[in-house]
Amino acid sequence: MDSDNSFLPFHVPDIGDDEIRSVVETLRSGWLTTGAKVKKFEEDFAAYTGTTHAVAVNSGTAALHLALEAIGIKEGDEVIIPTMTFTATAEVVLYFKAKPVLVDCEPDTLNINADEIEEKINAGTKAIIPVHLAGQPCEMQRIMEIAQKYNLKVIEDAAHALPAHYQEKMIGTIGDITCFSFYATKTITTGEGGMATTGNSEWAERMRMMSLHGINHDAWKRYTKEGSWYYEVLCPGFKYNLTDIAAAIGVEQLKKCDRFWEARRRIAAVYDEAFTDLPEIRTPVCRSGRQHAWHLYVIQLNLERLRIDRSGFIEALKEKNIGTSVHFIPLHLHPYYRNTFGYQPEDFPNASAAFERIISLPIYPKMTDADAGCVVDAVRSIVLQYRR
Ligand SMILES: Cc1ncc(COP(=O)(O)O)c(C=O)c1O
Repeated sequence: MDSDNSFLPFHVPDIGDDEIRSVVETLRSGWLTTGAKVKKFEEDFAAYTGTTHAVAVNSGTAALHLALEAIGIKEGDEVIIPTMTFTATAEVVLYFKAKPVLVDCEPDTLNINADEIEEKINAGTKAIIPVHLAGQPCEMQRIMEIAQKYNLKVIEDAAHALPAHYQEKMIGTIGDITCFSFYATKTITTGEGGMATTGNSEWAERMRMMSLHGINHDAWKRYTKEGSWYYEVLCPGFKYNLTDIAAAIGVEQLKKCDRFWEARRRIAAVYDEAFTDLPEIRTPVCRSGRQHAWHLYVIQLNLERLRIDRSGFIEALKEKNIGTSVHFIPLHLHPYYRNTFGYQPEDFPNASAAFERIISLPIYPKMTDADAGCVVDAVRSIVLQYRR
């Protein structure tokens, strides 16, 4: 609950004294931008996810952009992505004047429907970006097999998927490059931030260089004693480096990642249990052999059994002081994607139908059992009031 003890926000980051101390220490250190803290955050993140290389950047979007640049996406290429995602997944493809080719979702998990990927592949297709929606890993075995068959690269959008496993493999170690987000609402945060992980040292080096103006090796060290004033620009790069201030938060948040996950998992279990007897609510489906990160808890309303629509339900929850969100408005329904690519709602029937039904309930470690109880009571009472 917020300070007036009434409204439960959709999300509140869990920032403790450790993060505050670490930021203050960094502010006092005299080194604010990319430096030792970023290096430590990258090392800790690589160790945590079990990957060889982790490149810290200032957003998940930047990580996706650099990943596509590293694998060599060019104008006119096609990249397969789900329609059920945030615009960042698609916009980075458009940065290259390449084409994001949308694929419908599975009706239950809302993840990309792997069965529909192959029919979208043609000679121009270069990559697939699966998005682990809400934190549930996609059908990675199928996706990796398809990628291998057609010689495509796989860039995972893992903005929701820390920590998550697929068949014992940590997300961050499966695709060619995996991109994480540390935006304020994510499972760990640096305010704004992101990380790209890969087992390929050439791509890691390329992303590192392009994240800082395309300047050669260890550009950030040029103001240190061991560094040199001399540098060379090898490519027109970007300004995507993470600050040490942000990394100071990240290092501390990462230490709590497992505890945060346990807390979210508990809340998910409370919701699952509380809604089992309500046929009006479809709770999230979890496929076997995966660890769901529980970044989001997305319910689907069974509208046939209700006299209220999704927007009305959200309003009713707000009146009961519960903040919610919708993940996502599918890309094909947004004016830009609709108008540019001529998409119709019926082109992606599962995502179009799901969009009318989905609500993301609050799920974060700062929630108390009483908070989760308030969400349960509010959902149940609206269902009872509006059931047919
Ligand atoms: C699925 C997905 N991909 C990418 C992003 C982009 O992450 P960021 O906000 O860190 O740029 C987000 C974030 O909000 C997201 O939800």
